[in-house]
Amino acid sequence: MFLELDGHGPHYAQLTRAIKAAVLSGRLASGSRLPPTRALAQELGLSRITVLAAYEQLRGDGFITGRVGSGSFVSTLQLTPALPPPESTVAPPSRYAKRSRAVHDRMIPLLHNGLPYNLQYGNPLTNPALNTAWGRELAHAAAYTPMRGVGTQGLEALRQQVCDYLARRRGIKVFPENVLIVNGTQQAYALSARVLIDENDVVVMEEPHYFAAYQALAAHGAAIHVVRTDNDGIVCDELPAIAPRLVCVTPSHQFPSGVVLSLPRRLQLLRYAASKQCWVLEDDYDGEFRYDGHPLAALRSLDNGDRVIYVGTFTKALFGSLRLGYMVMPAALRQDFITAKYYSDISSSGIEQTALAHFMGNGGFERHLRLTRKELQARREALVDSLRRHAGDRVDIVDTPAGMHVVVWLRHYDYALADALVALAHARGLGLHPMAPHYLKKPPRPGLILGYCSLSPSALREAMKLFGECLDVIDAKARGSLHVA
Ligand SMILES: Cc1ncc(COP(=O)(O)O)c(C=O)c1O
Repeated sequence: MFLELDGHGPHYAQLTRAIKAAVLSGRLASGSRLPPTRALAQELGLSRITVLAAYEQLRGDGFITGRVGSGSFVSTLQLTPALPPPESTVAPPSRYAKRSRAVHDRMIPLLHNGLPYNLQYGNPLTNPALNTAWGRELAHAAAYTPMRGVGTQGLEALRQQVCDYLARRRGIKVFPENVLIVNGTQQAYALSARVLIDENDVVVMEEPHYFAAYQALAAHGAAIHVVRTDNDGIVCDELPAIAPRLVCVTPSHQFPSGVVLSLPRRLQLLRYAASKQCWVLEDDYDGEFRYDGHPLAALRSLDNGDRVIYVGTFTKALFGSLRLGYMVMPAALRQDFITAKYYSDISSSGIEQTALAHFMGNGGFERHLRLTRKELQARREALVDSLRRHAGDRVDIVDTPAGMHVVVWLRHYDYALADALVALAHARGLGLHPMAPHYLKKPPRPGLILGYCSLSPSALREAMKLFGECLDVIDAKARGSLHVA
């Protein structure tokens, strides 16, 4: 009997799978006799115990009948005829799935993995001390987390900590009953889509914008209308005349351009939302990291119409695989958000919420933020100082003392030269990440996002020296005097 074992897991499980596959494909017909266990063991080079265990499992699953000793037989089963090619038989995917496929290619691939100077953005600073502290918190939480679950809205203790933090650092006064614990910002976007958006409803996003948010909203069926940003953030005069359902903004540190939404624009946006009776989603993804000590208070803190859905995340302040974040829900939407969260996944992980509440309560979180801020500031200064030294007036730097990346615009370059620069830098070990994929329509000038979380200050200085050398080569090429090497 020809049986192919797939090599995954214990032998008895592999044999069970192989025999099931043979039965389901019709190769082993109903009623046919299986070889005696001893003979099959010998044929396949397995122990008899293994074959016995597989037969036992198959008997338990109803695939074979009979007893060891008197013979085992394939059960009589009504099998579905072998499937013709999937396209013709599988029910067509939902409109959601079709739209998801259509926006999937906006995924921005991770480039330059493994290069010595990869200026990757989006990943937080890794702090080995945090691993130890978090391990302790998890062990403690495992003993104290209620086994029955922590409720859809999230652990009360964590929501209380979030409220204290928001009042202290972001100027937002809110009570735990208006906070929903979610699995990161991405879930907040997905829930907002479910609660607020029907197919073809208009949603405003900034241009440029965070592509994963765009994908979640577009897959849901939103008609996305992008509005330009300038040095003061989203250009409110260009908001659509037709009332959108939702406006999504990153006011503290526009993603990815890095500009801060100015106070007059904040007020203008809130007036617009009131006049159009729409909602505003404030994505405060890296609001913890401000280095000049004077962060503008969150947009939500200026909102006296209860129209701003504020979203914060722990994936930037702590680490990416901690899929926890929170939403401040306007009162009118509170129950809808909680219900949508319940339908989505019942609740976020209880143990991690308990660990985080304890970590915030004992001061560990603030301590970690202080250290991270200090380190990020040092890295930012190293990057910006050496960028000025080596790139000089060949770049315009968006100089916001915040966040985890710096944006530069290449002053005299077109896209062909910028592509040549990125390729040359890659060949020399420097990973540069272009701005253009964050736009629906390429901006007139090429720009780069320089992430500074994953390199030390001295490595960042080296990286900027290399950047300057690459610019020299491309400039020379542009003048026609050299070949790119
Ligand atoms: C604008 C913006 N919002 C939110 C996030 C974080 O999302 P999450 O909380 O789902 O990890 C990112 C991550 O890069 C981001 O760029």
